[in-house]
Amino acid sequence: MTETIVPAELEIDLRQLVMTIANTVDLVGVDDVLHGRRVGMLAREMAIRMGWGEAEQLILYDAGLLHDCGVSSTRVHHRLVVDLEWSGAEEHCIRGYELLKDFQPLAHLALIIRYHHSAWSWLEQQSLPGNTALLANLIYLADRIDVLAAPYHADQSVLSHADEIRARLLAASGRLFSPELLAAFDKVSQEEAFWLGMQPEWVQQYLVDMEEHGDLRLIGWTEFKQCAGIFSHIIDAKSPYTEQHSQGVSRLARHLAERSGLDAMTCEKIEVAGLLHDIGKLQIPDEIIEGESALTPHEFDIMKSHSYGTLQVLKRLHAIADIARWASLHHETPDGHGYPFRVGGADLPIEARIINVADIFQALAQNRPYRKSMTPEQILSILQERAAQGRADAGVVALVADDLDNCHQIAICHE
Ligand SMILES: [Fe+2]
Ligand SMILES: [Fe+2]
Ligand SMILES: [Fe+2]
Repeated sequence: MTETIVPAELEIDLRQLVMTIANTVDLVGVDDVLHGRRVGMLAREMAIRMGWGEAEQLILYDAGLLHDCGVSSTRVHHRLVVDLEWSGAEEHCIRGYELLKDFQPLAHLALIIRYHHSAWSWLEQQSLPGNTALLANLIYLADRIDVLAAPYHADQSVLSHADEIRARLLAASGRLFSPELLAAFDKVSQEEAFWLGMQPEWVQQYLVDMEEHGDLRLIGWTEFKQCAGIFSHIIDAKSPYTEQHSQGVSRLARHLAERSGLDAMTCEKIEVAGLLHDIGKLQIPDEIIEGESALTPHEFDIMKSHSYGTLQVLKRLHAIADIARWASLHHETPDGHGYPFRVGGADLPIEARIINVADIFQALAQNRPYRKSMTPEQILSILQERAAQGRADAGVVALVADDLDNCHQIAICHE
């Protein structure tokens, strides 16, 4: 493998990165993609009303945005937003903690996320550092306020339900939530403004206003690449069938990029584009990803939206515009009949062509509900057929043919 080159010039604004992860995590909500962002807003607003400092306000905002980063399945997401308490909630707290704890720029959020579904009566007995218990419990409270209020935004009836939501949460005082937090909620929720601010258009405005806030730290390539690894774990946790898919695509794409003779920096970026290419899949319902038979035309239309979603999420990170473009072109084909941009011929860059071949290879090497994993020879014959039809890059497929077993080992992560 080529030695890793660290591009000194790459600097990504940490605030933009947090927003990008938040957008990614919220895709799992499918029809309601603002849950994390509303929780961040509610937690921060309550902290302001309780007179907490700016540092804590910002930690709560970020923790709210990212609190469900351990949820990749649309089914699990649905379970979490229908009941006030669900016995299966703990798992995503642990996953979220594991994802963030070693990523230095966001590690301070890990413990808050770990305990964001823990009952206060238990939490207050634990010896957690500083005010972690209270911060985690405030995320829990904000989360449950949002879950109870969310069904009433579409028809703007939330004000008529405010009293009943308040009564339900206050009934859990001391058991699920800290009495101090509930007292603050009791007070602030008397105001209509508290509830009206949860309407989608105002949540969006709040996000725009917050972009100017707080820490504008820059992170470099090494940390960004680590963060791309976190994204890939979130994406691949979507379904047991896609386990390790993004990582396999990333490794194979890098390998093919090196064999194509691309420069070290481009290889490095292709590796990251492979990690990120399927971000948009998080918004595809689990039932479509795990369908037992071929997709219906309607399901395929929904499926086609995923690489478009990848671009929408990544385009906020201006410093990686090239990576975002290659990643979002991974279903485009040289003949221009791919999706969703219909980019082909000279407009389809080699980087995207490499990721496209790596993606098809890795997917065919995995089991799917409707077929078993294919052998390297079967995969190659499909790739060669596609290349002959103009639906895959012939030069890249020739590289695969030259090094088939090695490519297979790399794709299934058994290097
Ligand atoms: Fe949660
Ligand atoms: Fe894809
Ligand atoms: Fe993929």
